[in-house]
Amino acid sequence: MESINAAIIYYSSTGTVHALARAAAEGAEKAGAHVRLRKVAELAPPAAIDANPAWGRHLQDTADVVEAGLDDLDWADVVLFGTPARFGNPASQLRAFIDTTSSLWQQGKLTDKVYSAFTASSTAHGGQESTILALGNTFYHWGGIIVPPGYTDPVQFKSGNPYGTSHVAGEGLPDDVALEAARHQARRAVEAAAAFKAGRRNS
Ligand SMILES: Cc1cc2nc3c(=O)[nH]c(=O)nc-3n(C[C@H](O)[C@H](O)[C@H](O)COP(=O)(O)O)c2cc1C
Repeated sequence: MESINAAIIYYSSTGTVHALARAAAEGAEKAGAHVRLRKVAELAPPAAIDANPAWGRHLQDTADVVEAGLDDLDWADVVLFGTPARFGNPASQLRAFIDTTSSLWQQGKLTDKVYSAFTASSTAHGGQESTILALGNTFYHWGGIIVPPGYTDPVQFKSGNPYGTSHVAGEGLPDDVALEAARHQARRAVEAAAAFKAGRRNS
């Protein structure tokens, strides 16, 4: 297989999306990719974080996760973004990172990569699809190749979201089905990138 670099770039306040991101990293690794698991910077004021003990705990627990930088995007053939739903949209922390990418975009360095996204929300109808689709707007601008999971694996008929892996955080941490869906999504994205790269090489 072609050598593929996969960046899993996520934001998580209380660990749900982080768990999905770790599973996605496992899936990408299993598919043979070189993987970077990266969190985006926390931008919330300390008072907001202190008001939710689970938030502060998660921040401490993931202190060793490297923060995402533009070099991670430049390096990657595959980028999976993970974010909790925020009023039906991606978290501002992830958007703030995305808003630092103009220089890469201007140089055409974000095109022709495979992009895919995953999310979590408190409730089942709390905006999982709208959050993933909102990230899709950016992928279009970047000239990305959007690879959603669709119903391409039996796990998708259990997890039920063809747009991207999603978990209802109000029901607890991601279960085996959600974690397997994240692994499958990443695996599929890596395989698609490898096929694209091989096709280009042979064209
Ligand atoms: C400002 C804010 C907005 C939110 N908006 C939504 C929402 O639109 N729909 C929803 O179901 N949950 C919403 N939530 C809940 C989060 O999506 C949920 O806590 C998150 O998915 C948990 O992921 P995490 O553990 O990775 O932080 C919101 C939470 C906050 C703090």
